[in-house]
Amino acid sequence: MSENYKETVSPHEMEELWEQDLLQRYPTENTKAKADYRNYESPARDTVREFYRMNHTYQTYEFVRQKEQEFLAFNRREMSLWDAVDYLNTLIDDSDPDIDLDQTQHLLQTAEAIRADGHPDWFVLTGFLHDLGKVLCLFGEPQWAVVGDTFPVGCAYSDKIVYPEFFTANPDYYDERYNSTYGVYAPNCGLRNVHLSWGHDEYLYHIMKDYLPEPALYMIRYHSFYAQHREEAYNHLMDDHDRELFKWVRAFNPYDLYSKSPSPPDVKKLRPYYEDLAAKYLPDTLRF
Ligand SMILES: [Fe+2]
Ligand SMILES: [Fe+2]
Repeated sequence: MSENYKETVSPHEMEELWEQDLLQRYPTENTKAKADYRNYESPARDTVREFYRMNHTYQTYEFVRQKEQEFLAFNRREMSLWDAVDYLNTLIDDSDPDIDLDQTQHLLQTAEAIRADGHPDWFVLTGFLHDLGKVLCLFGEPQWAVVGDTFPVGCAYSDKIVYPEFFTANPDYYDERYNSTYGVYAPNCGLRNVHLSWGHDEYLYHIMKDYLPEPALYMIRYHSFYAQHREEAYNHLMDDHDRELFKWVRAFNPYDLYSKSPSPPDVKKLRPYYEDLAAKYLPDTLRF
């Protein structure tokens, strides 16, 4: 089943499906119609289910620790911010007629919506780069280890995580070191001490951690952690500092989820502004 899954769903298509699934789970008045439409498309729903079945089965504590070792050495590529954006765009599957917007456009729409609301420039820059960690797909990583909702590993999986029933296939579910409320962690130890399932959030956080203000780093690191920023399922691991900074994660989420519009942004026209922003905060090249 997993072989078939890999062949039939491109990374870009998977992201579109994940986004549709999120819109269905967290709809607004504006997004309802589109989300409901997807609801009845069972092949799309089955793809998302299969994605989460694999994600929940394989994202164990050991797996996450091993991916941290493997990818936080940053010995794969050195790229400027714009090189990374261009590189990420090669993810698009041209054969799919259903795909309207590429990654640059999602990033620009998110960032432009933040800018239009008058937020500080580092917030705008965060919108522009928040998904760059998805280059993991281009390093050959399976989609279930790049995108999708994130959640803590090393302690009990909350039933507020999407498709919680799939965790029964995860060996940690039966491991007494990892399956209690706190598992390997102490009460309210702070999320900086907690390992989340491996994916593009955590990876990009480590690339950016020396360059951006802390609210930006929280937005990057926890933007897919819906079980907390939407469901508050892990308050028992958060400390006061996390609670304060999660205001920014929640402020960021609507721009990520609801800023998609059918008119593509003018990449050429906007590029100089974002190049200046990058030059203000980031070094010439970043290590991936
Ligand atoms: Fe993301
Ligand atoms: Fe995003």
